[in-house]
Amino acid sequence: MEAYYRERATVYDEFYQVGRRKDDLVALGSWLVERARGGMILEVAAGTGYWTEVAAPVAKAITATDYNPETLAIAAQRRLGSHVTLTVADAYRLPKLPGTFDMGMAMLWWSHVQKQRRREFLRHFTSRLAPGALVLMLDQFYIDGVSSPISRKDEWDNFYTVRTLSNGAKYEIIKNYPSDEELIDTFSDVCDDIVVTRLREFWTISARVRR
Ligand SMILES: C[S@@+](CC[C@H](N)C(=O)[O-])C[C@H]1O[C@@H](n2cnc3c(N)ncnc32)[C@H](O)[C@@H]1O
Repeated sequence: MEAYYRERATVYDEFYQVGRRKDDLVALGSWLVERARGGMILEVAAGTGYWTEVAAPVAKAITATDYNPETLAIAAQRRLGSHVTLTVADAYRLPKLPGTFDMGMAMLWWSHVQKQRRREFLRHFTSRLAPGALVLMLDQFYIDGVSSPISRKDEWDNFYTVRTLSNGAKYEIIKNYPSDEELIDTFSDVCDDIVVTRLREFWTISARVRR
């Protein structure tokens, strides 16, 4: 996962140029902007900063983190503003970060979290957010003939897919597609007010960290 996205960093944003995603991306942008207004946001797995850039004009402050400095270097080329800080960090082992966060954001990340680590990740992430903080995530669901084919399932029922980069390098990465029930079940551990929505290709979740 880490190596694949490091190697893919320079072409990652092609994902956002795919025509069939346009309507969903516009709707997701509005969904995020409505919720991010005034937020002091902690973002994990921010990648090249596509969603950071959407939230930046309305957020009070954003600390955007990613495991790979290569993806954050691309985020740094966006005009994010001085209220946005980019920091290298492992989402499972976040360092102490300055500031209080009343919002948490993890986009296109949940599908890459192993099922057996979902609760661990969510507990860790929400432990860095204020009680009552809004958690926002979005990701893709599986569409036959459109999504990259599932190469195998492991003993935890995690799905994998094989991705090939333009230099021919092949990576098998985890790519899970949770049901609404699975999402609600996992988030119920630490969150209330859970709302899941589905668009054409993406799902969203918003939830409040339990007080
Ligand atoms: C599918 S990309 C999503 C990027 C961005 N959030 C977006 O929506 O465009 C997944 C990101 O997770 C990052 N990543 C992989 N493993 C990570 C880890 N352990 N901690 C933090 N980020 C990680 C990758 O570097 C990559 O940028």
